[in-house]
Amino acid sequence: MAEAARTFSQADTTSVPVSRPLTALPDLAATPERLQPLIAQLERWIPRGLPEPELLEKLRPHLAALVERDDWLPAAHARPDPDRYRQYPLHVDPEGRFSIVSFVWGPGQATPIHDHLVWGLIGMLRGAEYTQGYRFGGPEALVPDGPPVRLSPGQVEAVSPRLGDIHRVRNAFDDEVSISIHVYGTDIGRIERHTYDESGRITRFVSGYSALE
Ligand SMILES: [Fe+2]
Repeated sequence: MAEAARTFSQADTTSVPVSRPLTALPDLAATPERLQPLIAQLERWIPRGLPEPELLEKLRPHLAALVERDDWLPAAHARPDPDRYRQYPLHVDPEGRFSIVSFVWGPGQATPIHDHLVWGLIGMLRGAEYTQGYRFGGPEALVPDGPPVRLSPGQVEAVSPRLGDIHRVRNAFDDEVSISIHVYGTDIGRIERHTYDESGRITRFVSGYSALE
């Protein structure tokens, strides 16, 4: 990240929200019942300050159990947008220690190259997606970090500054919706992080959350 920091100081720092702003946090009482075991694990393990590898090892099977069945996601959290992908909040910890989000990809939709600055777990619920990792190959050049990884329903992947934090994600399909469930170690919609272009140019952004309709 040292190279990224150096490039960042030279970059355009315009804030570019990539989602429609959140208008209201979801009613926690309406949190889908199927999320409760995962939320219980997050509330159990995060306060203990476990090292990231151990924390992710404990959480991973609970996210895998959540996405092994696709019969629980409310329709409002599964609605695609014709113009861009959506990220709907399923549960945001009141203390901002973690958040659970549904990412809904319309046909052919993709994210910009971006980072997270925190650990995240991604569980594929419906359809499929490709994630392409990137790394700095020089102070002003992002290069692919290995081949794209395809996620299929039931699979879980991790991101973090430790594991590799810069990637671009796209729907694997041009003709159907795909959905993945993401867990982050912060209130991901509210923190400032970065998007990148392939010349290494960095732009600050706060993603927000998509409004539920
Ligand atoms: Fe991401």
